[in-house]
Amino acid sequence: MRPSPESETADAVTRDALQRPLHDLRISVLDQCNFRCPYCMPEDEFHDGYEFLRRSQRLSYDEILKIARVAARLGVSKIRLTGGEPLLDRNLPDLIEGLAAIPGVDDLALTTNAMLLAPAAERLAQAGLHRVTISLDSLDEGVFRHMSGGRGDLARVLDGLAAAEEAGLDPIKINVVVQRGVNDHTVLGLLGHFRGTGRIVRLIEFMDVGNRNGWRADLVVPSRELLSRVQRRWPLRRLDRNYPGEVARRYAYVDGQGEIGFISSVTEPFCGDCSRARLSADGMLYTCLFASRGIDLRESLRSNADDEELTEILEQIWMQCADRYSELRRPELAEAHVLRKVEMYRIGG
Ligand code: GTP
Ligand code: 5AD
Ligand code: SF4
Ligand code: SF4
Repeated sequence: MRPSPESETADAVTRDALQRPLHDLRISVLDQCNFRCPYCMPEDEFHDGYEFLRRSQRLSYDEILKIARVAARLGVSKIRLTGGEPLLDRNLPDLIEGLAAIPGVDDLALTTNAMLLAPAAERLAQAGLHRVTISLDSLDEGVFRHMSGGRGDLARVLDGLAAAEEAGLDPIKINVVVQRGVNDHTVLGLLGHFRGTGRIVRLIEFMDVGNRNGWRADLVVPSRELLSRVQRRWPLRRLDRNYPGEVARRYAYVDGQGEIGFISSVTEPFCGDCSRARLSADGMLYTCLFASRGIDLRESLRSNADDEELTEILEQIWMQCADRYSELRRPELAEAHVLRKVEMYRIGG
């Protein structure tokens, strides 16, 4: 008999081949997005004729909930909804209600570009969502527009952010993908804007996810370089991590104006603590952001696997996982980039 979540001890938690527990499940609800960020879904590839998943190819809410319940039995306590852009799915609150009711899930978050957040925030909170993370690469109108593929409206995003705060979806985090020569000159301005507001900005190194995002080593601004740029303006002190496996390295402004984070997957990989599994909208489970293939859970679901069987399948997948792509890759090697990898918009980062 598998232990119920309440009786689970640290020893009973499922661990992978590198002894890492499974803590987070990241669920992509759909592969479409209303932005075309060049580092994720470049417009020339993801044009009007591009075929996204059809409704029938995507998991239903019941199917997602089944997987999430099973994952919670195996130790998952944190669930993040992603896309593409998850708010394009108008019924999302229904899914959130189901996820919030799963015993053991104590952190339920959503990653969004916030274009559709203002009218939705209150309902999302009522459905049981705990917090949102907003992708916002620059507060410079021109840079923002470029980095959203010409589709973003900065004022609407900022309204979304305010609405999320009003609805209590905090702590609100702001994810900034930093690219040299594209938006790195606007980072200090963005930090200055959010200092003292309680919102936590995280500066993310541009990663070589997928094969279509034009990744180049010279576009990466190493976190240590950014850190010293920030330190010159506002002294920082290091903070302890909030939980094992946290991807961001946390710092506080010495003058008490809040917190910022650095996510340095390229220059300082953090695979050793990785506790994340990713479920794509078509039901593939990926044990690494850089995986070239996932395991098809949709097929199991649609051939009527019961909860016990699904638990067994998920447990086996996790126990066999030995992924640590970021630690193994050498970004300076072009070959690393040639591997066929899953695209970011399909698994939501
Ligand atoms: P918190 O729960 O708020 O700590 O955030 P999170 O860990 O869920 O991080 P979030 O989803 O906001 O991710 C921020 C950035 O880190 C994104 O660009 C992600 O793609 C990247 N990231 C998150 N998890 C991983 C990971 O397992 N490996 C790598 N290489 N990058 C990751
Ligand atoms: N490198 C780093 N972060 C990325 N994201 C999307 N593509 C990349 C990339 N190539 C970020 C998004 C979002 C998060 C889920 O992943 O901006 O905040
Ligand atoms: Fe959409 Fe986010 Fe990808 Fe930008 S990074 S295209 S907002 S999924
Ligand atoms: Fe985890 Fe893969 Fe990211 Fe390493 S590269 S932290 S194994 S998702």
